[in-house]
Amino acid sequence: MFRWYRKALETLKERDPNPAKSNNVAYDVEKSIKIYQEIYDEKNEKPNSPPSTRSSSQSDMPSLSHLSTLLQLALPHVLPTVTVVSCDMREWDAPEKADIIVSELLGSFGDNELSPECLDGAQKFLKEDGISIPSSYTSYLSPLQSPKLYNEIRNCREKDKHFLAHFETPYVVYLHNKKELAPSQPLFTFSHPNKAKVIDNTRYKSLQFQITEDNVVHGFGGYFEAFLYKDIMLSIKPETHSQGMFSWFPILFPLREPVGVHQGDIMEVHFWRCTNRKNVWYEWCITAPQIISIHNPNGRAYTIGL
Ligand SMILES: C[S@@+](CC[C@H](N)C(=O)[O-])C[C@H]1O[C@@H](n2cnc3c(N)ncnc32)[C@H](O)[C@@H]1O
Repeated sequence: MFRWYRKALETLKERDPNPAKSNNVAYDVEKSIKIYQEIYDEKNEKPNSPPSTRSSSQSDMPSLSHLSTLLQLALPHVLPTVTVVSCDMREWDAPEKADIIVSELLGSFGDNELSPECLDGAQKFLKEDGISIPSSYTSYLSPLQSPKLYNEIRNCREKDKHFLAHFETPYVVYLHNKKELAPSQPLFTFSHPNKAKVIDNTRYKSLQFQITEDNVVHGFGGYFEAFLYKDIMLSIKPETHSQGMFSWFPILFPLREPVGVHQGDIMEVHFWRCTNRKNVWYEWCITAPQIISIHNPNGRAYTIGL
């Protein structure tokens, strides 16, 4: 979080033909910028985080509450203009309104780590003309063939869960041994700040994909494209992937049965983003070239805790 701020000041100093002057500017900027950094211990607050193959590496990390205590103690000495606040941004009573909210809340499907709900809650402390970085993000889907991933999911069966539950759960996973069977298409978009009178983060959309070759569809790859500010874009969509960026794996939404397809077939998928007071979840089904009923109805297999 602080790296960009230091880097920006360093760049300013490096690029200015009059370094003595820019040194003074950098000093003034450093003195006048006030940063509130929020840290939230979601391990304690959000018991229902979505199953994800990414979680394994996180168990070695120090607890965020310890980290936040360390930061609260150490940062004022290193960066006196930074105030670390340890709470849920939706509940924070900010002492002043901000010009910019910079957040890093995007999941592999853009909104799937609840960036919309978090930022909608935080925008009350953004000035009327304030900006959010990112300013918008869109999820993308494409039909995939991957017998290897399909078989891995089939073997995920858990004793105390419905036998279909693992096929009704998305997986954040490196998509290897797969073939995309149509170019990806945009699904849901969220923009910030959200100035709607009544904010509604539920979504529904159907997409029609023209299949490029005779093959079998095992599920859908999910990606995102985000605009940070104006046209500065960050993407994990195959067609526009940001060069050298490895921060996110795609997300995979499986189908409970493989679907045989022919070149030129239209595959129609329906996707819902559903919410209630406590949870957010996705439901999906296909209606062409054959019907496969709704996956994860009412969030029966997985939900994301708000
Ligand atoms: C992907 S991490 C960003 C890490 C951070 N930018 C950094 O470089 O260390 C997302 C962070 O957002 C925090 N977070 C998620 N929901 C939040 C909320 N409602 N309020 C405050 N923080 C939240 C998580 O605890 C996590 O630390």
